[in-house]
Order: sequence, then structure tokens, then C-alpha cells
Amino acid sequence: MDCPSRRSFFGLGGAAFALAFTTDLAHPWTARASVRGGDYPFQLGVASGDPLPDRVVLWTRLAPKPLEPLGGLPFNKIKVDWEIAEDEAFTRRVRHGSAWAAPEYGHSVHVDAKGLRPGREYFYRFRTGGELSPVGRTKTAPAPRSSPDALKLAFASCASWQDGYYTAYRHLADDNPDVVFHLGDYIYEYGIVPTGGNRKVPVPEQFRVQCDTLDRFRIQYGLYKSDPDLQAAHQRAPWIVTWDDHEVLDNWAGRHGPGGEVTEQDYLVIRANAFRAFWENMPVRLPAAHGPDFRIFRRFTFGDLAEFNVLDTRQYRDDQVCGDGQQTDCAARLDPARQMLGPEQEAWLLDGLGGSRAKWNVLAQQIAMIQLDFDPGPAQRLSMDLWDGYKAAKDRLITGMIDRRVSNPVVLTGDIHYNLAGELKANFDDPASRTVGVEFVCTSISSGGNGNPATGLPPGGSDPVNPHLRFSSYQRGYVSCEVTRTQWRSDFKVVPYVDRPGAPVSTRASLVTLDGVPGLQAL
Ligand SMILES: [Fe+2]
Repeated sequence: MDCPSRRSFFGLGGAAFALAFTTDLAHPWTARASVRGGDYPFQLGVASGDPLPDRVVLWTRLAPKPLEPLGGLPFNKIKVDWEIAEDEAFTRRVRHGSAWAAPEYGHSVHVDAKGLRPGREYFYRFRTGGELSPVGRTKTAPAPRSSPDALKLAFASCASWQDGYYTAYRHLADDNPDVVFHLGDYIYEYGIVPTGGNRKVPVPEQFRVQCDTLDRFRIQYGLYKSDPDLQAAHQRAPWIVTWDDHEVLDNWAGRHGPGGEVTEQDYLVIRANAFRAFWENMPVRLPAAHGPDFRIFRRFTFGDLAEFNVLDTRQYRDDQVCGDGQQTDCAARLDPARQMLGPEQEAWLLDGLGGSRAKWNVLAQQIAMIQLDFDPGPAQRLSMDLWDGYKAAKDRLITGMIDRRVSNPVVLTGDIHYNLAGELKANFDDPASRTVGVEFVCTSISSGGNGNPATGLPPGGSDPVNPHLRFSSYQRGYVSCEVTRTQWRSDFKVVPYVDRPGAPVSTRASLVTLDGVPGLQAL
């Protein structure tokens, strides 16, 4: 139900409701749902996402006991009230209604709050059984025909819970972005060690095994989303999310399962469970996942300033060739028939890029697109899981952007737990070839622990075997971007450790690309 009347919530909840309301008012951003115990139903916090000029998705999932499969709730649906207002005191409420939190969807709630004004900040909350949720802040996209001067965004990926604390999410929240892009590995499907890894927090027995059933995926999300820093990041801004491999299985590729004892049928059941749990736990404007196929690629337009193509580079790709790792000699990677996006998504992407009126045309996706030669010597050692393992598909995309004269292509990437900034070349083996656009790769929030300088590419500003690379570093963190009509600036924010809470944040590097001048400059 979506009702624009301004009838008050008050009088429905009694004293406990009034107390919770007052508490949230006093500290709308520091209220941590997860520190409230007992039967508090909003222990997984609130979130918003997929902002359009007139609407935004509001999300919560009822779970008084987040580490239990149904969150400690019975097998019946529960009514949840919601409201969205122009102010955090909720005196200028613009929409409210009720929704059902149903057990078949893990008692999640996805409300598409419509009738909002473009480019505006809003505040929202939920209520059920006399309990109020924390207050979330969100923001709609600018009007379709507007010419915004600026957009502030952050992007992040890879947040293995047991690898460390989510301090980087907390700093991301403090930046107050207009929108957050999450590029996948929001959860990891792996079993969790009894000691909680770098968190050193004991974890119950049911977390030992890898995620496969829907119930197991649900409690994994319950554990992850209990984290107060992650909740703060969701509370502060709308998110636009996609997935990478670990929302399902390590390096999954299309309909090719991991092999071994896992049959294709087993794999597709796991995939269906993973997709359903992803949908239940994310603030997405998508129909509920109901099987092993789930279209999540979609597009968001921010006036004529920026258009974001959110991609799925896992579900439609051909299997990795020559194994999933790094290879020095694998001719099969050049096979022109090999697909990364699949024909439908590739056509959708190129059509969208060709028709875009936006100044900045962004691919929000998972895996590194610039060529990455991991061999410091004359040999070329490339990762078969990245776009390098799908050379023809990459060439079709880059040539397609040249042919369509796409304005300022910018690729945002996650996956490899390493900060990178590089230039997209027409031919990566020829440094003199045309520069088509730029790519920014965010490191992990926590995956990999404190960071390991001995793995991956050489940190720093240049790499002789990858001359198109302008910056790399291995610390944990995220990327904050200021997008204006003249330039795109990316600040690589890093934290020095994640094995204990409270790490400070600093800017490791700032890189800029100018409108109409493909290429990167360090500030
Ligand atoms: Fe990852």
C-alpha cells in the first residue's frame, strides 16, 4: 500500500514507541540497530537503493535473532508500516504505507516509495509491533532533463566478514555520498572459522559449512548485516548493488558449476538459493528471484551528468579457460566466440551507450578490464577470470565504445582486493594506441585482512609492464568520487588495518580525468 495522506503514526505504539522515536531523533546516524538486543525486529538495520528521479526502494528485513534461519520469527507474515519525509524529524512526511514481511522472502520488505521529487534528500523508517527502525537518509536521482553540476559517489567491494572489521564502510558513511555503488562480494559463501578470524568473535556451529541452502545463505547475510558499520553505510545513502562471484560460489561462470561432486543440477539449486537470498537482503528494484536465472543488469541516469550501466559479468559468461588462475600462454582466451556479458546484455549495453546523452558513461561492474600483466619480466601472465581471459568480448566492447563515440567512458571495478587506476586502451599491447576511457578499481573493504604487499602488482604510480596503469596500492578501503561537468575525481581512501576496530582513514591517492580528454592525471 502506498498512501500519500499525512495521517500521523502517533498513538499507535505507546510509551516504548515514543522512547524509541526520541532516541532515533536525537542520534539518527549513530543509532545502531544491532546493539539493541531482545526481540528488537530491526537488528539488520535499514537500507535504500536504486534511486530514480521520483522513487527509491526502501528495505528492511525483520530478524530479532539474525543468526537463525528465519531471524527467529514464526512462519507467518508480519505487517510493517513505513514512512518517508523531507526532514529527519518526520514533520514533513510525503508518503507512507504498509507492507507485508513474508516468511517465504525471509521477512524482507522492499517498498518502492513513489511520488518523490528529483534530486532531493529524504528520511525514512519502518515500524512494526510498536518498535521503530533506525532512521535512514536517502536521495533521489536528479530530473531526467536536468543538468546537475555535481554528483558525489562512493564505490566498494569485497567485505569478507571474518577477514576484518568494516571500518572502511564507516568512513564511507561519514563521507555522506549521494549514492553508493557496491560491486560485489558483499558476502562470501565460505564457512566461517569458529574464532571469527580477524574479528576474534566466536561464531556458532551452523556457520562452519559453506552456504548452499537458502537458510544457510540467510544466516550468512544475517551475520554480515549485523555489523554496525555496514548498517551505517546503508543508513546514510541509497545503494546500487550488483554481485560478483562470492554471492554464489568462488569464480562461478554462467551455467558451469565447480565440478567435482557438485553436479550441474546441484549447482543450479545453490545458484537459485543464492539469488533469492541476495534479493531478500538487498535494496533492489527487481522482482523476487525465483530460480537459477535472475536478470540484475540495469541502468541509472543522473540528469545529463552521468549514466550508470550496472553489469553482471558472472551469470552469462563462458567458463574460464586454462583454469581460473593466471596463465602465460593460453590461446583459448582469444576465441572470438567466448562471451563475458552474453549476447543480450552486450547488445543492451552498447545500445544504451550509443543512445546516452550523459557526459560521463559509467560501467559499474566486477572484474578488471584494463590488461593486467602479472609477470614482471618479458612473459605475459594474465588472469583468466578477468576480462583478459575474454579478449574478444573486451575488444568488442572497447571498439563498440569508439564506434559510438561514447562520451567519457569510466569503468568502476572491484573483485581483486587491490586499488588500481588505469587507462582503457584500444590496444593494450601498444602504448601509443588510442586511450578510450579510464578504469578505477576499488580495493576490498576487508577481504585479505590488513593487506599484503607481497602479492599482486607492484604498488605505486607506474609499472613498466603495464604502462596504462597510473596507480596501484594494496591497502583496504573504498573509492570516493566527485563528478562535475569538467572532471571526474577519484580519491582512493585507505585504512591501515582491519584486524581491530577504529582505524583512521586517509587518502592514498587522487586521480582525475577531464571531460573530453581520455586519460588520467595524479593530483
Ligand atoms: Fe573478493
